[in-house]
Amino acid sequence: MKGREKLCAKLSSAFLRKWWFVVAVSVGIIFFGVIVVIFFMSWVNLVINHEVTLREGSKPTEWWAKPPVVPMIRVYIYNVTNADEFLNNGSKPIVDELGPYVYVETWEKKNIQFHENGTVSFNQEKIYHFDESLSAGSEDDVVVVPNIPMLSATSQSKHAARFLRLAMASIMDILKIKPFVEVSVGQLLWGYEDPLLKLAKDVVPKEQKLPYEEFGLMYNKNGTSKDTLTIFTGSGDITKYGLIDKFNGMPKLAHYTEDRCNDIMGSDGSIFPPHLTKNSTIYVFDKDMCRKLPLVFDKEVTGSNDIPGYRFTPPIDVFASVDENPENLCFCPAGPPCAPSGFFNVSLCQYDSPILLSFPHFYLANDSYRTALEGISPPDPEKHKFFIDVQPVMGTALSAKARVQINLAVSQVIDIKQVATFPDIIFPVMWFEEGLDGLPEEMTGLMRLATSVPPVAHAALSGVLFALGALMLLVAIWRLVRGANRLSSLQLAPGHMGQHGNKGKDVPMANVPKY
Ligand SMILES: *[C@@H]1O[C@H](CO)[C@@H](O)[C@H](O)[C@H]1NC(C)=O
Ligand SMILES: *[C@@H]1O[C@H](CO)[C@@H](O)[C@H](O)[C@H]1NC(C)=O
Ligand SMILES: *[C@@H]1O[C@H](CO)[C@@H](O)[C@H](O)[C@H]1NC(C)=O
Ligand SMILES: *[C@@H]1O[C@H](CO)[C@@H](O)[C@H](O)[C@H]1NC(C)=O
Ligand SMILES: *[C@@H]1O[C@H](CO)[C@@H](O)[C@H](O)[C@H]1NC(C)=O
Ligand SMILES: *[C@@H]1O[C@H](CO)[C@@H](O)[C@H](O)[C@H]1NC(C)=O
Ligand SMILES: *[C@@H]1O[C@H](CO)[C@@H](O)[C@H](O)[C@H]1NC(C)=O
Repeated sequence: MKGREKLCAKLSSAFLRKWWFVVAVSVGIIFFGVIVVIFFMSWVNLVINHEVTLREGSKPTEWWAKPPVVPMIRVYIYNVTNADEFLNNGSKPIVDELGPYVYVETWEKKNIQFHENGTVSFNQEKIYHFDESLSAGSEDDVVVVPNIPMLSATSQSKHAARFLRLAMASIMDILKIKPFVEVSVGQLLWGYEDPLLKLAKDVVPKEQKLPYEEFGLMYNKNGTSKDTLTIFTGSGDITKYGLIDKFNGMPKLAHYTEDRCNDIMGSDGSIFPPHLTKNSTIYVFDKDMCRKLPLVFDKEVTGSNDIPGYRFTPPIDVFASVDENPENLCFCPAGPPCAPSGFFNVSLCQYDSPILLSFPHFYLANDSYRTALEGISPPDPEKHKFFIDVQPVMGTALSAKARVQINLAVSQVIDIKQVATFPDIIFPVMWFEEGLDGLPEEMTGLMRLATSVPPVAHAALSGVLFALGALMLLVAIWRLVRGANRLSSLQLAPGHMGQHGNKGKDVPMANVPKY
């Protein structure tokens, strides 16, 4: 009787122990599931951060150095068709928007040097090839545009001594310089010899010298830039990934009165700090822009290869006047008066030429600037807005359209007879759209993997863990309950007394041999 009971107890406790073990394992699995739910995405983020970090030899770094993309710049030129009537008869200027003139670009980063402190420096190379088949004209098209070197010189002389202006007028007479020039599109972009710049190079004291004797809106841009950029690789601090640390060794610009405006810690437009949200503000720095440009979330978009992305665009008040956006005061060191709403004064970056940037067709500026000329259609955000689409998890630019218009702020100068009838006006010269239409499949493939697999894996893994844990737990509990029932029914046969008697006997019996 005792032996049978002991065996039964042993059996049942071994049996119970097994199922208690299963309970423990299933609780462990469920606990692991909870861990997965909580931490899985952070692990994935750590992996992504590690993958995107720029370091020698990695695939994303190769793509960064030599992007397998086809960037393009589309140039539109405002051809002035009534230059003589405008100057002689006071007519409204009439312009004819020509273009696009399309250049296909190849980008490569040269002289790449990784530094110990998590930065890398390089010189950007951009090679432009004219693509006649995509263009609406040829590089040899002749256009009539404002003479930027001349009108810059005359506008600047406004506050100079009168005899200087008169001297300037006679020099311009001798050199036959006119307020409008007739040049080919190729010359306007890539450079033509300008008599005034040539003269300036010979007579102006060395330290004030302009560096060129040719003038072109994209002069010297075809090739490797002399500017050295130092950017953060993301190692150590992923929140600075891709942001500029130094430009030609300088940590900030020196043009403005406050650090906020001199700050250059923006991206070059290709890579951004990962894990962007709809609240993120991203920044792009470009030397010719003379500042870093903020961009805020606009909408969700689907990129070329079905990659979902966030569209970032400059806030509406980015170029607002100081009255509307006091934040912009530090961009106006010489003011007031400052540039009107919708314009950004880049004079300080362009050898003091009175150049104002705006968005194409004066988007975001007062309509009166557009209607001061004839032939410019009302702005259309679809065609004229500046935007960058970014894959928010990895911070890679999916597509981009950097759209900027170049305007000349002409001041009327009565003493210089050639321009005496040229009124105060903001005269548009051209606008361009530089950017990417999409990424190649090899890049988007990896991106899709990195962005769509983790959430699915996350859901699947946690689902499987919870299901498995719950199933095991249920089975174990069921077996335990049934086992306990069977045990009690087995032990019920000898009665409750038996159990009590057992316990009462077992304890001393177990203790006795030890004494
Ligand atoms: C630009 O305008 C001028 C007239 O001002 C005209 O002679 C010339 O053909 C125009 N260029 C093009 C490409 O239409
Ligand atoms: C000059 O303007 C007047 C009216 O203001 C107009 O009648 C005349 O045709 C214009 N001349 C030219 C050459 O455009
Ligand atoms: C990192 O090192 C490079 C080269 O020594 C230097 O130019 C750069 O300013 C340094 N950057 C930081 C953030 O210390
Ligand atoms: C840019 O330079 C390359 C050679 O470096 C040349 O083939 C190309 O025609 C140039 N593009 C322009 C627009 O001048
Ligand atoms: C985004 O901004 C809104 C409103 O300012 C705020 O309620 C929300 O918590 C922010 N989200 C994140 C992720 O910071
Ligand atoms: C642009 O900036 C320059 C230099 O700061 C200044 O002299 C000029 O008046 C400004 N132009 C306008 C239109 O604000
Ligand atoms: C545009 O400018 C005109 C005159 O310069 C002014 O009367 C008008 O209120 C301005 N419009 C806006 C929307 O600021």
